[in-house]
Amino acid sequence: MTSSRKIKSYDLDYIWHPFTQMKEYLSEDPLVIENSDGVYLIDSDGNKYIDGVSSLWVNIHGHNVSKINSAIKRQVDKLAHSTLLGVTNPSASLLAKKLIDISPDGLKKVFYSGDGASAVEVALKMAFQYWLIKEKKNKNKFVCLKGGYHGDTLGAVSVGGIDAFHSTFKPMLFESYKLSSYDSSDSTISDLEDLLKKKADSIAALILEPYVQAAGGIKVAKEGYLKDIRKLCDKFDILLILDEVATGFGRTGEMFACDHDNVCPDILVLGKGLTGGYLPLSATITTNDIFETFLGEHEELKAFFHGHSYSGNPLACSAAIANLEIFEEERTILKVKEIIEIFEDELKEFSGLKHVSSIRNKGLMAGIDLMKDPEKNVSYDIRDRIAKKVCDIAKAEGVLIRPLGDTIVLMPPVSIKQKELKKLTRSIYKSIKEATENES
Ligand SMILES: Cc1ncc(COP(=O)(O)O)c(C=O)c1O
Repeated sequence: MTSSRKIKSYDLDYIWHPFTQMKEYLSEDPLVIENSDGVYLIDSDGNKYIDGVSSLWVNIHGHNVSKINSAIKRQVDKLAHSTLLGVTNPSASLLAKKLIDISPDGLKKVFYSGDGASAVEVALKMAFQYWLIKEKKNKNKFVCLKGGYHGDTLGAVSVGGIDAFHSTFKPMLFESYKLSSYDSSDSTISDLEDLLKKKADSIAALILEPYVQAAGGIKVAKEGYLKDIRKLCDKFDILLILDEVATGFGRTGEMFACDHDNVCPDILVLGKGLTGGYLPLSATITTNDIFETFLGEHEELKAFFHGHSYSGNPLACSAAIANLEIFEEERTILKVKEIIEIFEDELKEFSGLKHVSSIRNKGLMAGIDLMKDPEKNVSYDIRDRIAKKVCDIAKAEGVLIRPLGDTIVLMPPVSIKQKELKKLTRSIYKSIKEATENES
């Protein structure tokens, strides 16, 4: 066994961490997560932490789940990987059938990738080529939302709407139409209608995160709005791409957020929780109409020229099959609805805190905004590092979370139990109180 001291020094010497200011990181003692058990992550000193953000929104049934572990072990003894370019494998095939069974009616074909961002690229390119083949080549622009986030590859960033992450790369991006964010869902709909009246002939698709703009600060749209969006896309003949990378797999209280409104997109993008939070795998799921548009003779060059080395990886697919079987066996969606009620009761308590300016949630996705003076609408200075202070206190309390700006995000594993959930919310309450009230 390599000593914990060496692990830390190799990390500090050799790893460049994602979305991390490394100057600050290098000045601190790294947290080494070495083990796990249910909703708990365990560090190299044996300390246990509730995984309050599901390891960046991926974990569903907890960690170290014996059914998923066994599925991967069984698979690795047979086949770790074989390409999906022109060949198939049992796990990719079985998973595709399962995904079509649980997806909204109308979605019939699964295209696999590795990460959420890759699956978004697939959706954008698929929509673009669809109209090209249909000889409507002017329909080549995308509509997206301010505050939206679809990953960090260039296509995904082009349809992103978070200035702090995206504006740096503007010269590298293609242009898109940006509607108002979920801060004002009513204007999203009316903005969309106005835009489509003028520009629908030049638009391939609208892409959005249904119900929750997650990385945008857990912004929640009003009930029923997806139906209006779907109607407008149909009326003006543009495709609807729903990015459920964050909202999928029970996180909002239904298997998919679009199930709240019984809306079927033309393209559904899944990632993160697809393997229960075990392995990288994503899927872009679409209709027969789109699939059949790409059919033709070899020399017509209508094939979808896109793929990844690890598309349909058997280990990841076997984990995803086990993940979906647990949903059925444990009736996860029914249970999560009960836990969401408790979560919402717990969240109400936060409004009593002096520096909490707003609390939002859809299901188990919650954002708690902190402000220096909520009454006067005064934000904290970026140098206050207020959210980091909360996270550091929470860590000492046995809870790991990661904020978005001054928004404290709570997104526990879908299968979290009542007692663990209360430990999570109450530790965070205490951490916010301590960080903000000692501050002022
Ligand atoms: C809605 C949404 N889409 C896409 C992505 C990108 O997924 P990945 O990080 O797996 O590339 C994310 C990641 O947070 C996301 O929240």
